Amino acid sequence: MTDRPSLFSGSPSELIGRQVAGYRIEEEIGHGGMALVYRALDLRLDRTVALKLLAPELARNVTFRLRFTRESRVAAALDHPHIVPVFEAGETDGVLYIAMRYVPGSDLRHLLDREGPLPPGTALRIATQVASALDAAHEHGLVHRDVKPGNVLVARGTDSDHPEHVYLTDFGLTKKSLSLTGFTTVGQFVGTLDYVAPEQISGRPVDGRCDVYALACVVHELLTGHPPFRRDDDMALLWAHQYDEPPTLTAARPDLPPAADAVFSRALAKVPDERQESCLAFVTELRDAIRSAPSPVVHPPTQVDVAAVPPRQDGAEAPPRWAEPVFRRRAY
Ligand SMILES: Nc1ncnc2c1ncn2[C@@H]1O[C@H](COP(=O)(O)OP(=O)(O)O)[C@@H](O)[C@H]1O
Ligand SMILES: [Mg+2]
Repeated sequence: MTDRPSLFSGSPSELIGRQVAGYRIEEEIGHGGMALVYRALDLRLDRTVALKLLAPELARNVTFRLRFTRESRVAAALDHPHIVPVFEAGETDGVLYIAMRYVPGSDLRHLLDREGPLPPGTALRIATQVASALDAAHEHGLVHRDVKPGNVLVARGTDSDHPEHVYLTDFGLTKKSLSLTGFTTVGQFVGTLDYVAPEQISGRPVDGRCDVYALACVVHELLTGHPPFRRDDDMALLWAHQYDEPPTLTAARPDLPPAADAVFSRALAKVPDERQESCLAFVTELRDAIRSAPSPVVHPPTQVDVAAVPPRQDGAEAPPRWAEPVFRRRAY
């Protein structure tokens, strides 16, 4: 640390227009548990980047400094189309920073808040991309451990077959496979507990299957608008992850086939051995389950086997299963 006045003398917005290392800060674009993220201009290359700065109140905490430094190393080591490329990392005036590709668009948290549950096709496309990034990390012996909507960035895709391109980000909590984890480290869980696997809570060794669990919680939210467990306080939520049976997907989405329930039941198993062995295996099973439902696109209306679409409990006519209905945002 230097004795010079900190870059952070006031609110984060006071950094707008200032220069940090070779970057001119232009706009605050996000903040999570430990960092502030700005859109900035790389003055050397004249290109826009995302500049992530370790939050000033955490900059003196050794745990957070190590975590932040590790994040840049991990992300830089993983060269993958669905992981944000890191350009540079360093420290200037006591401020730790990471410069990475700027992803114009939104993160999944904002997308869900804005749009509510997504059509199955969209949810599956997004899930596939996140799963491929996670499996790539697992192949490197790394477990992300913080899979949640806020850590998935959504940009415009290349064409109508690929309408969105998503990036997994925030490797701040990433650990080597089989390391022991839990609530023992200061500020280990600074964000939401909605997606945390039972073995992560109880401090047992974690491997890629803890990310399978978290991904399943995220995909449940993509499809229903809420994660599987909703409780009034953190302790009850932690208990639910460890001991409670998750509700079925079809309880919230009766238009989806019951086969999808079995896929989630495995992915959300309390014991990692009972889960799918990879994130892509989970998404593939889910896609197969959803596709196995009768499709009005495949069967023209005159040939639809009406008996294959069970009547809804409330007596209302069931929507066609592949109609990709637009759901209203659901508060929870
Ligand atoms: N490369 C990027 N491009 C655009 N926005 C980003 C980028 N990285 C992060 N963000 C935004 O900043 C938010 C926080 O970033 P994140 O890496 O998750 O930090 P934290 O460790 O504080 O959670 C993200 O949810 C996203 O909205
Ligand atoms: Mg984050």
